[in-house]
Amino acid sequence: MDVIGLNKLKLKIFADGADIKQIENYYKNPLIKGFTTNPTLMKKNGVNNYEKFAKDVLKTVVEKPISFEIFADESEDIIKQAKYISSWGTNVYVKIPVTNTKGYFLGDAIESLSKEGVKLNITAVFTIEQVKNIFRILDKQTSSIISIFAGRIADSGIDPVKYFKKCKEDLELYPNLDFLWASPRELYNIYHAEEAGADIITVSEELIEKFKNIGKNLEQFSKETVKMFYNDALIAGYNL
Ligand code: E4P
Repeated sequence: MDVIGLNKLKLKIFADGADIKQIENYYKNPLIKGFTTNPTLMKKNGVNNYEKFAKDVLKTVVEKPISFEIFADESEDIIKQAKYISSWGTNVYVKIPVTNTKGYFLGDAIESLSKEGVKLNITAVFTIEQVKNIFRILDKQTSSIISIFAGRIADSGIDPVKYFKKCKEDLELYPNLDFLWASPRELYNIYHAEEAGADIITVSEELIEKFKNIGKNLEQFSKETVKMFYNDALIAGYNL
């Protein structure tokens, strides 16, 4: 079976994370075309000053696109935060969840920001209806991303490739809009995302580490796995 190299895909690969050293490192990697962050990843990486973190990141990430997420829950505050975050750079996309924590569609905020030219990444998108609602109100002149959480959708037992395709079905696509495959769970999801017609996939450090396995000889892989079990049993000092 032929293995398709990542540089042959139409899909753009973004790095998802909030480790500044890693971001600096990935910025130099031509395979990584952009970045995404979210408050959970920032918290996990010990970020305690949001703005300082973002501005430090933006010293390195000057050209490739990067998304920073708002963390307000009411439209007025969301709009305020979004405009502020957007002012940090022309390569900055503002991530806005599709609904607030009460489940209300944030259509008004999304529509007015997009109309004003704020680049948005609509995040936490899980349903076809949400995609249609977002699509309807995004400004076609403004660059936008719709992040469909394919991995979490798959976690609910749904085939994410079929579902992702369905989300895009019947839409009159336009060049300023990218569909992003979010929350991948395994390396092969990169190929799933390509098959599903995603424009972007955002991948964690854990998956980026697996890029080196692409095209790897499976017998060799098998031997390494056997050795791992053997060595770990030795280290653990098991005996029967
Ligand atoms: C996307 O931009 C998100 O940060 C990311 O893919 C979330 O994935 P998770 O399901 O691993 O939290």
